[in-house]
Amino acid sequence: MGFFSKDIKTMDDLFVHTLRVIYYAEKQIVQALPAMVNKSSDPQLKQGFRVHLGETKNHVTRLEQVFKLHGQQPTLVDCPAIDGIIDEAEEVAGEVEDKSVLDAALIAAAQSVEHYEITRYGTLIAWAKELGRSDVVALLQQNLDEEKAADKKLTAMAESKVNRRAA
Ligand SMILES: [Fe+2]
Ligand SMILES: [Fe+2]
Repeated sequence: MGFFSKDIKTMDDLFVHTLRVIYYAEKQIVQALPAMVNKSSDPQLKQGFRVHLGETKNHVTRLEQVFKLHGQQPTLVDCPAIDGIIDEAEEVAGEVEDKSVLDAALIAAAQSVEHYEITRYGTLIAWAKELGRSDVVALLQQNLDEEKAADKKLTAMAESKVNRRAA
């Protein structure tokens, strides 16, 4: 179903469609993170990816709760955006040999994933509010808060790496 599919007529349809897109994205991220854990060298980064894998599994579960509260079955809609981000990350990571350069590439890739998720959740929260669904807002907000925290940690790691190299 394309974004401008005729099946989307109301704000509610659009909300559910976007929910299916992020549901697909979160599931792809669960698949992609173990490779990021394996490829990273910095122990703090490795641990960060491990922690976020656990959080991402919870994101999937919370989305399933959102579907349920909204009276919908959790179904997927392909998300070429997240597929592209993950493909690009794998491509770049495959080309880098130096461990600390590879870590920098993994941080950058992970941040593009987090930023993608942050925009989706921001939009979904705004629409859920518009639809008067404060029950699902709370669940979506928990996911958003964890994406933002993950992004902040990645920024801090990127900056400390840069500072270490400059020292
Ligand atoms: Fe997530
Ligand atoms: Fe995330």
